[in-house]
Amino acid sequence: MQAAVVTSFNTPPRYADIDAPTGGPADVVVDVVAAGLHPRVRSQADGSHYTSIDELPLIPGIDGVGRGPDRRLRYFVLPDTTRGSMAERTVVDERRSFLLPEDADVIALAAAMNPAMSSWVALRRRIDFRAGQRVLVLGATGNAGRLAIQVARHLGASAVVAAGRDRRRLATLGAVGATATVALDADPDTVAEQLAEGARDVDVVLDYLWGEPAVRAMVALVTAPEPRQKPLTWVQIGSVAGRSAAIPSAALRAARLEIVGSGQGSVTTAKVLAELPTLAREISAGRFTVDAKPVRLADVEQAWRTDAYPNQRVVLLP
Ligand SMILES: NC(=O)c1ccc[n+]([C@@H]2O[C@H](COP(=O)([O-])OP(=O)(O)OC[C@H]3O[C@@H](n4cnc5c(N)ncnc54)[C@H](OP(=O)(O)O)[C@@H]3O)[C@@H](O)[C@H]2O)c1
Repeated sequence: MQAAVVTSFNTPPRYADIDAPTGGPADVVVDVVAAGLHPRVRSQADGSHYTSIDELPLIPGIDGVGRGPDRRLRYFVLPDTTRGSMAERTVVDERRSFLLPEDADVIALAAAMNPAMSSWVALRRRIDFRAGQRVLVLGATGNAGRLAIQVARHLGASAVVAAGRDRRRLATLGAVGATATVALDADPDTVAEQLAEGARDVDVVLDYLWGEPAVRAMVALVTAPEPRQKPLTWVQIGSVAGRSAAIPSAALRAARLEIVGSGQGSVTTAKVLAELPTLAREISAGRFTVDAKPVRLADVEQAWRTDAYPNQRVVLLP
């Protein structure tokens, strides 16, 4: 069968012929219909993700939509494997998949399930989020951040402040539910002032950045001119601005700040899976704006270039 195949962690996958998977008794072999090229897939393919199993060759892809032997559509999430979804066929554990209606929007699902579940699962399963609370999305201009605004509003957030460095993208976020924006490309003092002013009342931060910008935002929020009375729950989700962050000890003492992470390992697989059918229904119903770019699997090598489709989520079609 044809697949995207990684033979070195230093080069993008190539479209190549490889043996088709067979699977064990508990597995379902699916014909893949669509698979998203998420940052998590890039880090799987370059060996840098914290769950990387360092085995080559590998077929990248962590989720997708496919048709099982019954020809019905299903969405699936794969475990850490070298037989990913960017192939004509892959092997799915039935318990990590669920059936979709025949009219499901397969492109939107392949594009959005992964980025949308980052905020959906965080708000529904990782923390005690309540309707009416206020949210800051740090790193709101990416696919996951943009969906986080929409997910937070959908789940009842009364306000969502969107912070990001790309002003052109930031200007589009009001249309998807942001009630205020903060440009992170300004000088650090201005950013701190704007966060202290515009995001002073937030209850929850959904943080896709980490690194320096997260530290600066944290300090700005907890040391705002008016001391914070209410708790602040900081949910660490992505790390596009830095893998580590030097948080000053005073930040932890100055407010009722609680830092938690949400991702593979900090929420059980069972809890994540329990949320997915509802999220899939909302995505397929067009509840969230999704910027998907369908591309033939044969063009995977070109699509892998990070500047090929800026800000769009590539969906590979075998
Ligand atoms: N924990 C989970 O469950 C989970 C699930 C899904 C995704 N994630 C993580 O969430 C993160 C975002 O994913 P995504 O799907 O949204 O990726 P994406 O669509 O590629 O977006 C990444 C965004 O980050 C911005 N960015 C990069 N460096 C930045 C910086 N220093 N300051 C401000 N913005 C910066 C980029 O904006 P520019 O245009 O300014 O470069 C881009 O808009 C990734 O780390 C991903 O692994 C976590």
